[in-house]
Amino acid sequence: MANTYAQTTTAIGLDVGTSRIVAAHRPDKEVNCETQLNAFVTIPFSKLTESVLKKERIPHLTHDAEITVYGDEAERFANLFHKETRRPMLRGVLNAEEGTSLMLVREIVRLLTGEDKGHGQRLCFSVPSALLGADEEVRSHESQLTAMLNELGYESRSISEGLAVVYGEMESSNYTGIGISCGGGLCNVCMAYLSVPVFSFSIAKAGDYIDSSVAKLRGEPATRIRSIKEESFHFNGHFTNKIHQALSAYYEDMIQALVAALRDTFASVQNMPKLNRPIRLVLSGGSVLAPGFRDRFEKTLREAELPVAISEVRLGANPMQSTARGALVAALSEM
Ligand SMILES: Nc1ncnc2c1ncn2[C@@H]1O[C@H](COP(=O)(O)OP(=O)(O)O)[C@@H](O)[C@H]1O
Ligand SMILES: [Mg+2]
Repeated sequence: MANTYAQTTTAIGLDVGTSRIVAAHRPDKEVNCETQLNAFVTIPFSKLTESVLKKERIPHLTHDAEITVYGDEAERFANLFHKETRRPMLRGVLNAEEGTSLMLVREIVRLLTGEDKGHGQRLCFSVPSALLGADEEVRSHESQLTAMLNELGYESRSISEGLAVVYGEMESSNYTGIGISCGGGLCNVCMAYLSVPVFSFSIAKAGDYIDSSVAKLRGEPATRIRSIKEESFHFNGHFTNKIHQALSAYYEDMIQALVAALRDTFASVQNMPKLNRPIRLVLSGGSVLAPGFRDRFEKTLREAELPVAISEVRLGANPMQSTARGALVAALSEM
């Protein structure tokens, strides 16, 4: 791939999500974002298949008797061969059960940033906040990614995903407020005061949880549920469709869990800054895209009576890019 990324870019923001990887850079005044699915599918090896994939420039790796197609193309191949795509990551971190996880994430990052190596550019990548009792998992994920990115030629460091959302979306409030990313694997939350994180946490109920729960209930493959969710679900409908009904119930479950965790965290924070005015809350990530999500979230939030006043609940300017853009802000601010 001809790509001048490495030459024209001074810094990179990388959102390493369970379902998508997004890279942000700023070649001039505007920020550019590129996305690939963080997914793969394997097909049997044959010399012919391999040469066709090469000709068609379809990203793939060959090892043993298999060809692994990764990134956006994985979905197309999965549909073609009636397979489910697999993921290098699970609930926000590298999946230890997929031996090739780190290598695939590296290849997807290279797809996004160009085949050239980095030239010592600063790169800031998002990491999830640890789930209760899973600190070690996140630490290991973070150090594996740091080593891999450094090896690719970047000077990398991490930022927690919720804080990246605050950086990406809350410049106008001097990076004060609550940033939330509702993704596939996790929902990540951070409250920051003048850019300094006050607390961060994550919960494991997010898009994948909704898909797999509805799939189990209705006896359908999760991939099919996900397509229905993304293409035709909206809140506040009168659900005649059983799948929509179930989707609504599990979305509700996720929102309740998120607001409850927020309330509990506020209650337990030791050195809460004294806020002299209400703060804003921004929602981002793929799971906030369902029409009506914002209204439903705000309603639940208002009912919970948090100890701080929230002035506004809004969707991110571009919810699928908030984390990568915020990671870029972090990378650029250190130059
Ligand atoms: N238009 C849509 N409506 C509802 N959900 C969506 C939509 N687009 C993507 N999603 C969901 O968003 C989740 C992925 O969000 P993303 O922010 O990419 O996640 P991650 O941070 O885990 O990579 C998936 O569960 C996906 O089904
Ligand atoms: Mg994410």
